[in-house]
Amino acid sequence: MRGVVFDGTRAQVVDDLEIREPGPGEVLVAIAAAGLCHSDLSVVDGTIPFPSPVVLGHEGAGIVEAVGPGVGHVAPGDHVCLSTLANCGTCADCDRGRPTMCRRAIGRPGRPFSRGGTPVFQFAANSAFAERTVVKAVQAVRIPADIPFASAALIGCAVLTGVGAVLNRAGTGRGETVVVIGAGGIGLNVVQGARIAGASAIVAVDANPAKEAMARRFGATDFLTSAGAVRDVLPTGADHVFECVGSPALVRQAIDLLDRRGQAVLLGMTPPTAEAAFLPASLFLDKSVLGCRYGSSRPQHDIALYAELYRRGELLLDELVTETYPVEDFAKAADDAHHGRVARGVLTF
Ligand SMILES: NC(=O)c1ccc[n+]([C@@H]2O[C@H](COP(=O)([O-])OP(=O)(O)OC[C@H]3O[C@@H](n4cnc5c(N)ncnc54)[C@H](O)[C@@H]3O)[C@@H](O)[C@H]2O)c1
Ligand SMILES: [Zn+2]
Ligand SMILES: [Zn+2]
Repeated sequence: MRGVVFDGTRAQVVDDLEIREPGPGEVLVAIAAAGLCHSDLSVVDGTIPFPSPVVLGHEGAGIVEAVGPGVGHVAPGDHVCLSTLANCGTCADCDRGRPTMCRRAIGRPGRPFSRGGTPVFQFAANSAFAERTVVKAVQAVRIPADIPFASAALIGCAVLTGVGAVLNRAGTGRGETVVVIGAGGIGLNVVQGARIAGASAIVAVDANPAKEAMARRFGATDFLTSAGAVRDVLPTGADHVFECVGSPALVRQAIDLLDRRGQAVLLGMTPPTAEAAFLPASLFLDKSVLGCRYGSSRPQHDIALYAELYRRGELLLDELVTETYPVEDFAKAADDAHHGRVARGVLTF
């Protein structure tokens, strides 16, 4: 079958990929659509270290093709959105409603794929850039069949991460002020999360002026091409500043833009050894800096919520899909994403 494999040097479309049958507690999914998140590009450029060869992709939706023994919550034919959390469901963190913190699921990549007898790793417990993938049952979340696959796919990372960061991690409240640095797939979902939360001001910052129309469409009240101008709009700073680029310099700017008691939420992925500087004294007035994995999500709960908000017209998904590409055109999709020509590009199978 076809898929996008990164061999440690370059990513290319192959057609000789094989996937094993689903074992106990696993689900085999035929991927219909998968969004291209910046994190996939970051594996290729080395910002996110990952063993290779690996099948890329981690933001997909499709149809259940088969289930292994013990799986009862989905059946062949069901439409599902896939999460990246292969959490165990039985540890103390899972039990506390923190599946993103499950220690039994982080840093243990499986190899359900093979090429010519050589095992191939699975990225983010997911690998949605393949015609089929095998995931743990907990990762397959049933969605209504009337949501287009290209739109549903984006819930799997961009929406869970961006909207989740606002609702689950920051806990942004009605009337609070928000700054979003980086208006890509993640940032636009922070913007719409802030709108859903009832933020009074949502200032989107992106170095690319072409992002303004989308940012405003998703709920931004202001758009700036540099964080330096934010205090013209919010003179005392913001209650919540989200860094959605992955730049140490912007982490510093996010902290410097906080109002009293404000919090900076860091969503962008920086290289593992990159350092950011800040003035500890600047945090004195009860400010905080928060990391956030995958929107601190609980996928079975949150994906159902987002599907419902989409049906009510409150959560925009179709608008995020700028372009769809047959998987063969992965290189073009990656180039368009790299040059900021799309909100999200989506590969189809
Ligand atoms: N924390 C998580 O769990 C998680 C999940 C998914 C993605 N991410 C990370 O989030 C980041 C964003 O991902 P994405 O898919 O939205 O990427 P993207 O490429 O779609 O968007 C990035 C945006 O940042 C803008 N930008 C770049 N440099 C800038 C600058 N100096 N100032 C202002 N804007 C700038 C670009 O114009 C672009 O619009 C990446 O680092 C990705 O790895 C984190
Ligand atoms: Zn992602
Ligand atoms: Zn667990």
